[in-house]
Amino acid sequence: MKHIDIADIIKSQDFVDKEVTVCGWVRTSRNSKSVAFIELNDGTSLKNIQVVVEKGDSDYKEPRVGMSLKVTGKAVAGRNNTVEINAVPENITILGDAPTDYPLQKKGHTLEFLRTIPHLRGRTNTFNAVWRVRSILASAIHEYFQSHNYVYINTPLITGSDCEGAGEMFQVTTIGYSNEYKSEEDYYANDFFGKRAGLSVSGQLEGEMAAMAMGKIYTFGPSFRAENSNTPKHLAEFWHIEPEVAFMELDDVIELAEDMLKFVIGKLLKTCPDEIAFFDAHFEKGLKARLEELISHDFGRVTYTEAIELLKKSGEDFVYPVEWGCDLQTEHERYLSEKVFKKAVFVTDYPKEIKSFYMKQNPDGKTVAAVDLLVPGVGEIIGGSEREYDLEKLLAAMKERNMNLDLYNDYIDLRKFGSVPHGGFGLGFERLIMYTTGMANIRDVILFPRTVGSIR
Ligand code: 4AD
Repeated sequence: MKHIDIADIIKSQDFVDKEVTVCGWVRTSRNSKSVAFIELNDGTSLKNIQVVVEKGDSDYKEPRVGMSLKVTGKAVAGRNNTVEINAVPENITILGDAPTDYPLQKKGHTLEFLRTIPHLRGRTNTFNAVWRVRSILASAIHEYFQSHNYVYINTPLITGSDCEGAGEMFQVTTIGYSNEYKSEEDYYANDFFGKRAGLSVSGQLEGEMAAMAMGKIYTFGPSFRAENSNTPKHLAEFWHIEPEVAFMELDDVIELAEDMLKFVIGKLLKTCPDEIAFFDAHFEKGLKARLEELISHDFGRVTYTEAIELLKKSGEDFVYPVEWGCDLQTEHERYLSEKVFKKAVFVTDYPKEIKSFYMKQNPDGKTVAAVDLLVPGVGEIIGGSEREYDLEKLLAAMKERNMNLDLYNDYIDLRKFGSVPHGGFGLGFERLIMYTTGMANIRDVILFPRTVGSIR
């Protein structure tokens, strides 16, 4: 259907005095004696275009909110540098009706209500803005890595090994378990792959294999976690960006994370000024200033041990008590980034017991070269580390955790053949979107959220 994107028409006066055809959905409609006004949105911009209908003698039927229309008319300059379309009723075609039970007839629905209509909520300003920010951030992430010699790798989604070793893997099976199987092994042997398989919680292990050939790689795909965490920042299916880099030590990993985030957020501020202004006005006052501040200042940095001291001294009444060795909870993460540092902060060198087997063991024998990035409002958005590249130490860490080494032969091989210091991190894409939009619930930054007890 030949037509012009509303975004292109309204961004300049180039189309003024020309005949244009636009398509879109009716956001509002007003009718008066000789003229009528329709606000049309086609999703290409947060802004609508106003169609001014000169009714003349014709029999004008006012369109209902939600209807889809094709309109041909003359682009004219409106007030405040805007562009409008003057059209006559004959040149307005109804493409699809929207009866009065259209759920978005009225404005001002709560986010909770909109979650019940995920297939329609993209037609609100809020989700129009969220989906565009998501798209621009994804593009900026690719741009950053591509322009720094990284190779984009697609790691498998179905896997036989649990990367994080946290037992949060969804099982992939084509047969149900029954008592006919002699043992668990017998059951898996009869299943599709002939062994136990699951959905990948992270592409890191395969990413490391690619990095040992290509030097600098990144993945950008879905990860799956069967975490029983019904919180505003956990999804069962989330999008994960995982760079993995040969010859990178912990400090380099931290530098990469900071540089990449500053680039993508800078790009977002430039590309989506309307969306950021919208979120600033409706969801988080001061969002734009906060993001501008973030990209122009150094992130904070603290070791886990120092962080524990800060938390203990805080006098705060945390739900989860703080002791060296404990995992940091969201309340601790937010206290550190919001109250102590008042900005993004890297926490490094965690106790080895609370981190994964693959992290490089520090000389103190107690901690590993891990890093998490904590940001105000969300908590952790990045988790990464330098990897253990010494074969003996890696094997020892895996044995300590009673891991089945047979499942990790390829990974272990990397440490036998030309092993090098290397590292990387995982950035939760939805958590980045939460941070850059001020949306407080992760369910509102992904098209169809999958969470414990809820799928559509
Ligand atoms: O800290 P995580 O578990 O680290 C890894 O998966 C490493 N293999 C990454 C690496 O070094 N390549 O997860 C990384 C990030 C978290 O910081 C968080 O932003 C996001 O992934 N994440 C989730 N996002 C939404 N819902 C969940 N259930 C998430 N679990 C992790």
